Amino acid sequence: IVVIGSGPGGYAAAFRAADLGRDVLMIDKGDNLGGVCLNRGCIPSKALLHISRVIGEATNLSNVGVSFPKPTIEIDSIRSYKENIVSKLSGGISQLAKARKVKTLCGDASFLSNNELSVTTPSDDIIISFEKCIIAAGSSSSMIPGIPKDHPSILTSRTALELKDIPNSLLVIGGGVIGLELGQVYASLGSKVSVVEFLPGLIPGADDDIVKPLQRRLRKQFKSIMLSSKVVSVSQNEDSGLSVLIETKDEKTSLDFDKVLVSVGRKPNSPHLNLGSTDVKLDKNEFIIVNEYQKTSVDNIFAIGDIAGNPMLAHKATHEGKVAAEVASGHPAAMDARAIPSVVYTDPEVAWVGLTESEAKSSGIPYEKGEFPWAASGKALILNASQGKTKILFDPDTKRVLGAAMVGPSAGDLISEACLAIEMGSDADDIGLTIHPHPTLGETFAAASEVYLGTITDLYIPPKGGK
Ligand code: NAI
Repeated sequence: IVVIGSGPGGYAAAFRAADLGRDVLMIDKGDNLGGVCLNRGCIPSKALLHISRVIGEATNLSNVGVSFPKPTIEIDSIRSYKENIVSKLSGGISQLAKARKVKTLCGDASFLSNNELSVTTPSDDIIISFEKCIIAAGSSSSMIPGIPKDHPSILTSRTALELKDIPNSLLVIGGGVIGLELGQVYASLGSKVSVVEFLPGLIPGADDDIVKPLQRRLRKQFKSIMLSSKVVSVSQNEDSGLSVLIETKDEKTSLDFDKVLVSVGRKPNSPHLNLGSTDVKLDKNEFIIVNEYQKTSVDNIFAIGDIAGNPMLAHKATHEGKVAAEVASGHPAAMDARAIPSVVYTDPEVAWVGLTESEAKSSGIPYEKGEFPWAASGKALILNASQGKTKILFDPDTKRVLGAAMVGPSAGDLISEACLAIEMGSDADDIGLTIHPHPTLGETFAAASEVYLGTITDLYIPPKGGK
């Protein structure tokens, strides 16, 4: 089995296949194993967001009588901290590969047929025949027209994470996951950050009420958030900064920035694999079409992760990688996850899984909900997180969980309980009657169920229609 790509999808597929007794070769064109997630995405960004959160918490303590001096930012040390974590984890993947006798090859793979690849390595070009292939070649940042490519002041998530310097002013184009996470990092390190978002709200996909506490925080932290706006053009100005023409509903304004981060989504890397020489089919957005076994239209070629469709998330890729490895090794497996969680690792964190209220409304899906405001949680008050919220949507007939959403510190960790509840078909009683430790933020999940069941004692909710 040949696996193309060593990100969280690729290495999971390679290792699972090796554990099932297959002879595995994993090819990656990057210098280090781990793909975008480990080297230029999830891990370095979360390392920087950790710093950003601690700065925020230290600042908040001044409200309770504990003040620290303004932090000094040593960018070289921060870069080393981030790079050390990345290199430890990448080294760990190499060791795990060796332990399993998975062969690795540094090179750029492209298809020659349904059974052969050509790989350009740093020393030569080689041809590799395979019995089965798992494509896990990921995605790259999308760019928008009117913006010069390869300009040193125009950043993508990849170059923004290199943290070459802290610009005095930064414009983030796209108020989605990457824009807000990296915008918050740069704001904490001292940049004046502005955001331009095409749609009327931030983080499309998440419910407005869950995004609101984050938006409130970002309005304080950022210089400006321009919604329903778009960038028309970006050009170099006389002071070696960038002049950006921004069109809002009523007007066009030209503003100057030192740097611009483009975070308007990602696109699959399928065009770089010479898939035209195979019978693998793509959809109109260039994602590889796969079935529930992660099989492409060619029986012996599988595709997983970002290249095989949305959502482009590491944990989805890992899960699909294992399914592909098992099916390719002759085991019964299928991608039948009921829900895939989404997390925005900002401060506060925003997390959701399964059905959202806006989806339920737009698709006419019946639901009932239980909501617990963190203002009534002791632990949330201790953490200065009274703006947080936990919300669960239930099936009105079965009381089973259809979806859940949270906003507040650690929401990304807390959402796992909702994922388990959905996978296991838990209903409101299962959750409300499970004893959760006190005082924790985890209690808010049980409390949201109790609100729905009418058994909550930490709030007073007058009975419907009664006194
Ligand atoms: P995104 O799809 O999350 O957000 C892009 C935003 O840009 C959208 O709000 C969109 O309306 C806006 N936009 C598009 N064109 C625009 C234009 N011309 N002008 C202004 N706004 C425009 O994409 P993002 O943030 O680039 O992330 C890419 C992928 O990476 C996502 O699929 C995400 O799932 C994944 N990712 C996940 C993370 C996580 O799970 N925490 C972290 C980082 C990335």
